[in-house]
Amino acid sequence: DIAQQVSTGRLPDWRAVDGLVRAAHERYRTVEDGEVADYIPILAEADPTAFGVAVVGVYGGVHEAGDAGQPFSIQSISKAFVFALVCQELGHDAVLERVGVNNTGLPFDSVIAIELHDGHPQNPMVNAGALATTALVPGTHEAERWAFIIDGLSRFAGRRLEVDEVVYESETATNQRNRAIARLLQSYGRIERESRHVVDLYTRQCSVLVTARDLATMGATLADGGTNPLTGEQVVSAEVARDTLAALAASGLYERSGEWLFEIGLPGKSGVSGGIVTIAPGKGGIGTYSPRLDSAGNSIRGQRATAYLSRSLGLNIF
Ligand code: DON
Repeated sequence: DIAQQVSTGRLPDWRAVDGLVRAAHERYRTVEDGEVADYIPILAEADPTAFGVAVVGVYGGVHEAGDAGQPFSIQSISKAFVFALVCQELGHDAVLERVGVNNTGLPFDSVIAIELHDGHPQNPMVNAGALATTALVPGTHEAERWAFIIDGLSRFAGRRLEVDEVVYESETATNQRNRAIARLLQSYGRIERESRHVVDLYTRQCSVLVTARDLATMGATLADGGTNPLTGEQVVSAEVARDTLAALAASGLYERSGEWLFEIGLPGKSGVSGGIVTIAPGKGGIGTYSPRLDSAGNSIRGQRATAYLSRSLGLNIF
């Protein structure tokens, strides 16, 4: 069967994968648990019924169902890919020391987590660690640093990505907490650049528009040792892809990362707009979009659809 084909590394029958992606969408389409995020005002306007599922294989197959082409802001999922791009520039040891890879066990925007560790941000997937990572983006001025981020994210997606200016403005007007976190890190000497510039770059990276199909492609790039299977471009090295997946396994779903690994058995990353990217190393990427979230900020239908695909495709790495 298909799970066995995938687990033994044989090319699966594409039509069967298509059927499973459609089934994942059909099974969870009517789940109405959870709430759309509203702490960033514009996110509250998302359509709660939107639901897209996509799988991109390292063999180049694209499989999708529902609203897989609907754009939404990438939010926290950008953290994983900017971390990879910064790792590529600075190397394994520098990011380990400056950003860390341990789970905080606390919510993504926790200030206490920073205080508990002498100002160390702990990992790149919480806001403190993401701000510390974005502060390490190379460049001599802001435009150059922004180009590094948007060019890198676009290479992961295999197409030119753009910022949703309305989301960017809405988040800029309401991101006092991130400004406070950046200042706190700065007070500990953990951010060496002007904190408001770092927050601005981070807010912009969170406002980049993607689709579930883009997320699946970005995930497939990490699954394929850093090479985008649709464009053939090597975006990051195989070592960086592996390091990024390790960081995701530890913290990609925040304080729920243990439960996620237990149920799904794959590294993944969620964002408050409702996206989740999941990576099956050596096999492919899964992208889902559905804005209703659980209390940790993770899409509920996205988690269920991904669990179904992990089981039915036999992707659990354990
Ligand atoms: O910084 C923030 O709060 C948002 N730009 C992103 C947070 C996020 O996506 C957390 N995800 N669950």
